[in-house]
Amino acid sequence: MSRLIIFDTTLRDGEQSPGASMTREEKVRIARQLEKMRVDVIEAGFAAASPGDFEAIRSIAGSIRESTVCSLARANEKDIERAGEAIAPAARKRIHTFIATSPIHMEKKLCMTPEQVLEQAVKAIGWARRHTDDVEFSAEDAGRSDLDFLCRIFDAVIQAGATTLNVPDTVGYTLPQTFAETICRLIERVPNADRVIWSVHCHNDLGLAVANSLSAVLAGARQVECTINGLGERAGNASLEEVVMAVRTRADIFMLDSNIDATQIVPASKLVSQITGYPVQPNKAIVGANAFAHEAGIHQDGVLKHRETYEIMRAEDVGWSQNKLVLGKHSGRNAFKSRLAELGIVLESEESLNAAFARFKTLADKKHEIFDEDLQALISDETLAPAAEHYRLNYSRVASETGETPCAQMILSVGGHERKAEANGSGPVDAAFKAIEQIARSNAQLLLYSVNAITTGTDAQGEVTVRLTRNGRVVNGQGADTDIVIASAKAYLNALNKLHSCQDKLDPQKGGV
Ligand code: KIV
Ligand code: ZN
Repeated sequence: MSRLIIFDTTLRDGEQSPGASMTREEKVRIARQLEKMRVDVIEAGFAAASPGDFEAIRSIAGSIRESTVCSLARANEKDIERAGEAIAPAARKRIHTFIATSPIHMEKKLCMTPEQVLEQAVKAIGWARRHTDDVEFSAEDAGRSDLDFLCRIFDAVIQAGATTLNVPDTVGYTLPQTFAETICRLIERVPNADRVIWSVHCHNDLGLAVANSLSAVLAGARQVECTINGLGERAGNASLEEVVMAVRTRADIFMLDSNIDATQIVPASKLVSQITGYPVQPNKAIVGANAFAHEAGIHQDGVLKHRETYEIMRAEDVGWSQNKLVLGKHSGRNAFKSRLAELGIVLESEESLNAAFARFKTLADKKHEIFDEDLQALISDETLAPAAEHYRLNYSRVASETGETPCAQMILSVGGHERKAEANGSGPVDAAFKAIEQIARSNAQLLLYSVNAITTGTDAQGEVTVRLTRNGRVVNGQGADTDIVIASAKAYLNALNKLHSCQDKLDPQKGGV
């Protein structure tokens, strides 16, 4: 069976979703999960966008062995040099360079003639080939470009050494039938089309990103660019899980498959949602909480009699587990460590492992039954290096009483010094945040506060995301605890620590595409 290449751009296009910024450590964690899922190409970022992006790509290039690590670059020498430098440590590396080809983009944005664009694209491939033989070229806004011009530019970049040609529907404008037609015509008309991989990159502005990608695959595309949970610029990109499972479930039509280990899809979805603070809607295909829940009596009856009456996929095949009970308070350090390894979680030092194990014991005392999801939340607390933990929660006491104003007392460690504060608020979380702010005086603005129960039951841990912004920088903080106010305080402090750790670092004007 022929193979569909899965190119994941969660860390690049996905990060362009408003507020979905990730730290370097978080990106490495996601990249490791993508590798475990056997994604073929990981677009780790856009090296020239900011020093932070550059460092993240370099770290990913240093930690990923199986997947190809790719950096995006505009079609200019400076961007491409930066991309080449960032991916240098990777075992398999790709440069993805792009330039716009639609009349509106060339005239209004680039102020270049089609001839100049073509010339620049050819030069870009030459610069990229100095760093790697694996060079992808994207004709940005191909969905609104002239077919004859696309044929000319693709022909020229193949001659210059591009190995993957990407046809992006940058603004989500195309329809499945017309997009398939475009791919067919390109493959028919461009000389040596059979020597390269044809790729598509569809945005979801009309809710058609997956449909367009799949139509393109039927027309001959052999790489799909997609993101976990469909994250991405504006309405997002084609969702990886939907593309992969559509192709696999309807192999009778597609006659091909991807390398993806689908049992890693749900863990990847949860990880990305937790890190970015973007919740997954319950009725989202494949990864939504209700994607495999049958509510109607007739459906339940049918499934009980014969599962395939109403199910076209099996929940366990995409990584849904029955909230597997994994550990309890009597579990030892070794059992803890090996379950983490099975979950693909690697703690860099013995110190982090010991700290995580101590936290696990405290949680097990409160909660008795610890599930995989609890472990994942617990570990995310460990991924912030201790050195970066400028603010730490030492003590909290929150009073909430009918008819009384909620009040919070907080004791924090700030750079190793103990600080206390007390504040009232409209609710216990509000009071806790105000007390923290009395101490931190961060000047940050709260953009998002969201709470999610990690598992079922009233003893479940609450997982909180707090999104803060200051001076144009946006960070997401996470915290988990069986006490929702403590989880909220931890998430707030996690976000403050991220703002603190990057305040002297660069990238004030991080740019996207
Ligand atoms: O949407 C787009 O056109 C892109 C390109 C850079 C591939 O993200
Ligand atoms: Zn895009």
